[in-house]
Amino acid sequence: MDLGIQGKTAVVTASSSGMGRNIAHALAAEGANVVLFARSADKLEAVADEIRAQHGVRAIAVPGDMLAQHDVARLRRIACEELEGPDILILNTGRAPNPLRATLDETDEARWTQAYQNQLWSVIQVAKELVPAMLGRGWGRIVAVTSASVKQPMPHHSLSTVFRAGVSTYVKHLANEVGHAGITANCVAPALIDTSHRSGQAAYTPEQAAARKRLTPLGRMGSQEEVCGVVTFLASRQAGFITGSSINVEGGMVGAIF
Ligand SMILES: NC(=O)c1ccc[n+]([C@@H]2O[C@H](COP(=O)([O-])OP(=O)(O)OC[C@H]3O[C@@H](n4cnc5c(N)ncnc54)[C@H](OP(=O)(O)O)[C@@H]3O)[C@@H](O)[C@H]2O)c1
Repeated sequence: MDLGIQGKTAVVTASSSGMGRNIAHALAAEGANVVLFARSADKLEAVADEIRAQHGVRAIAVPGDMLAQHDVARLRRIACEELEGPDILILNTGRAPNPLRATLDETDEARWTQAYQNQLWSVIQVAKELVPAMLGRGWGRIVAVTSASVKQPMPHHSLSTVFRAGVSTYVKHLANEVGHAGITANCVAPALIDTSHRSGQAAYTPEQAAARKRLTPLGRMGSQEEVCGVVTFLASRQAGFITGSSINVEGGMVGAIF
């Protein structure tokens, strides 16, 4: 199926590793040119090299911090001036502070501030800078990566979840405000995704992995590919009548019917 994004420009934040890197690959595989953004210049340039070599599209690495306004402004300038974009904006972020704890044990204001900045303010900072540049093009796709823990609380995940609920709300408001410009805005809400890429080894002990698998009717962890496929679909021409929605990629973990 032709997803209709060949030649479009996609900005993918937090894309030097993990989900962001894989999403950039998935969009590039469909012919989109990509602008990558994260703090580690070397890692980011290596991802851009990989993408150019594997997919034959343009890929530009823009090293920068989502929390630094001047870095985000530079991201907008490069996306607009070098690739005439953005058409597609993927709002991925870094993780909440580690280790996660029980809610009443999360007593440190600095950790809450860090979680707010990493999970919510970073998304707002990028969106407020880049979305105005998408208006007037007649077509656009915004996809934020949140978490299914927004809909189904997971043990020890309050610090990681509270501000992602804010992202879902922000994106819903955005969808209402940018629809007139032919732009959709949606969330993808993953959970229980295998993150063994992070250390190159299994991220969980066998007991932890077994406990996680029991949380889903499918009895397994999800793959990065399964998240990227949904993000790429939401960025496609075919997803043009989906906006203000959030799609779970969590193997059925969320218990609610609606
Ligand atoms: N695995 C799951 O089941 C699951 C479920 C729900 C949600 N998530 C969320 O999905 C997101 C991605 O997860 P992941 O496993 O791919 O994480 P990851 O491998 O740790 O990658 C995080 C990325 O964020 C970048 N980053 C962090 N802070 C940044 C900043 N201030 N400015 C720019 N870039 C920044 C990092 O690059 P630099 O260090 O180079 O900046 C890196 O590229 C996380 O928010 C995670 O919590 C995961």
